[in-house]
Amino acid sequence: MTIHSHAKINLGLRVLGKRDDGYHDLATIFVPVDLCDTVELHTRDLGLSMECTRDDVPCDSGNLCLRAAAEVYRFAGGGGVHIALDKRIPVGAGLGGGSSNAAMVLRALPRLWGVDIPDDELHAMAARLGSDVPFFLHDGPALAGGRGEILTPLNVRLPWWIVLVTPGIHVSTAWAYAALGTREWQPDPRLDLLLTDAVRGGDSAPLLVNDFEPAVFERWPAIAEMKRRLLENGAVGALMSGSGSTVFGLFSDALEAQAALAEFAPGQVLGVTAPDFSPMPFTPRG
Ligand code: C5P
Repeated sequence: MTIHSHAKINLGLRVLGKRDDGYHDLATIFVPVDLCDTVELHTRDLGLSMECTRDDVPCDSGNLCLRAAAEVYRFAGGGGVHIALDKRIPVGAGLGGGSSNAAMVLRALPRLWGVDIPDDELHAMAARLGSDVPFFLHDGPALAGGRGEILTPLNVRLPWWIVLVTPGIHVSTAWAYAALGTREWQPDPRLDLLLTDAVRGGDSAPLLVNDFEPAVFERWPAIAEMKRRLLENGAVGALMSGSGSTVFGLFSDALEAQAALAEFAPGQVLGVTAPDFSPMPFTPRG
C-alpha cells in the first residue's frame, strides 16, 4: 500500500499562553500543501520495522511512524508491517512532515490489517503521538486550538497559489517554544473570521501573524530575508510556517508565483500549491 503524506503550513499561529502541563495553548489554521513524502506499507508476518531514504531520519522507536504503528499494533493485539519512507518534506522545517507520516500510518495500517478503529480512539492515538498529528487524520484546512489537537474543519476555498521556500535551517520546536519566554495570556484572535475576511479580498495582515517569528528571525536573519524577498516579488502575504524554518508566500496568480520562485536558488524551492488544493493520500500518482 502506497500513501502520499502531505505537509502543512500554518496560516497564522498565535501562542495564547503556557499551560500547567508544560504545553502551550495556541490558535492556528492548518492548511495542507502539495509537497509530500511517500509512505509504503508492506505486510510482514510479525513485528514492526522501517527504512528511510534519508540517513538523518531515525528508523527506531524515535520515529513517529514506528510509534504510530505500535499504537495500532497494541489496539489490534498483534500484526506485522515494514514501512518504507521516501522523504521529500524537510525535517525541522515547520511543515509537520513527521506528524503527517505518523497520521498516514494510523489511517492506512488498520485498513491493511483489517482492523476497525473508532474515530475517537484514532484521534486519541494521534494526540498521544504529537500535537500536530490529529490534523493529518483529515484532508482539508482546519482551525486548531488547545495544543493543536482541537480541530474545526473549515469549509473555505483558498484563492491563493502558495509558494514554499526553505533556507535549509533546522529549527527545534521545543527550542522555539522555550524562546518565547514568559508572556501574558492572549485572547482568542478568531483566526477563522480573519481568514474569511482575507479570502474575500480584505487585508491578510491581521491573519498572517506567527508569534514564533521574532525569536526565530533574531536567531536566523536569513529566514526573515526569505520572507522579505517573497513580499518584494509580488506575494500578497508571506509568513514563516510553524516554528520555522520554511517560509510561504501567497500569490494571486500562477505566473507571479512562478516568477517569484525564479528569484530563489533551486535548493531553496519546495514547490507551489494551487488554489483550493486537497490531498488525495490513497490515490496513487505518478
Ligand atoms: O506535541 P509535540 O511532541 O509535537 O511537541 C514538541 C514540543 O513542543 C513539546 O515538548 C513542547 O515543548 C512544545 N509544544 C508546546 N505547546 C504546543 C505544542 C508543542 O509547548 N502546543
